[in-house]
Amino acid sequence: GDEAPQFKIGFSQCVSNDAWRRTMHEEMFRELSFYPGLSLEIKDAQGNNNTQIQQIRAFMEAGIDLLIVSPNESAPITPIIEEVFHSGIPVIVVDRKTTSNLYSAYVGGDNYEVGYSAGQYIRNLLKGEGKIMEMWGLRGSSPAIERHRGLTSALSGTNIAIAESINGEWEKDTAKNRLRAHLLQEQSSDFDLIFGHNDVMAIGSYEVLKDLEITNKKFVGVDALPGPYGGIQAVSDGILDATFFYPTGGDKAIEVAFKILTGEKFDKENILQTAAVDSSNVRIMKQQTDKIIDQQANITKQNERISTQMEIYRNQRTFLFGFGFT
Ligand code: FRU
Repeated sequence: GDEAPQFKIGFSQCVSNDAWRRTMHEEMFRELSFYPGLSLEIKDAQGNNNTQIQQIRAFMEAGIDLLIVSPNESAPITPIIEEVFHSGIPVIVVDRKTTSNLYSAYVGGDNYEVGYSAGQYIRNLLKGEGKIMEMWGLRGSSPAIERHRGLTSALSGTNIAIAESINGEWEKDTAKNRLRAHLLQEQSSDFDLIFGHNDVMAIGSYEVLKDLEITNKKFVGVDALPGPYGGIQAVSDGILDATFFYPTGGDKAIEVAFKILTGEKFDKENILQTAAVDSSNVRIMKQQTDKIIDQQANITKQNERISTQMEIYRNQRTFLFGFGFT
């Protein structure tokens, strides 16, 4: 019929068991409702490079019209993405990058900038002096590498040292377990602040230190998700000193996909802005993001109503046609 999707988009998602990725998917589906000609299928690689490679190959063989991909780790996923691109299928890279420039468009934050902003913030917070612990995201993923680089360059020339590093791999439980083991083994906590490459790891670190009754530490994270378990709430509760917005870009990715598929002009680099959230602005941020959550819930409800109406209409038409009443 005339409502059938004309374009199939495959999204190869590196992992999806966290609120940030779920937010990305929600944004994508909401944006998709504005483009009836597009369909979206998501495959979740569950943090496994080989799974992701296989899933991208499966998409290619199934004949998708466009690939969206967030590569688990940059280097291992680059060759298959290049292969898709060379085969003539447009590729939009989101959030995590490859190591090459063979893709149609990138949508995501500037992670060097995120790390640099966090570093500048930490520099002010510690008045230029102290020791920090860096809680890393997955080492081979581009946001971890770039956030680290940004942080390092913002701290250079100060008396702030990155005294310790832990590999939290972006996961709250991994971060908590490794931090706890580390603290118990070292029997010391000679640092002033923990910088988490994301909020869930920063919040997890806070929880571990609280458990061990280690006080007077500061915590800074990244993502600033709205909602009850997000970074904004954690700043509001005084758990995090600051967090930095890292937009998921789900809606933007679909918008760019539509442009590419319909031959419109589009930008290759679509960089989403970051900003600090701390005690000075968290109230207004929370008000605004709560309002957005409300509005988005309304849009979703409206969309559901529209599809129910469409369904009823289709059934009536089938009925009328069936009896020749037309
Ligand atoms: C979610 C996440 C975010 C982080 C991003 C980096 O899976 O870990 O917390 O900002 O991925 O790719």
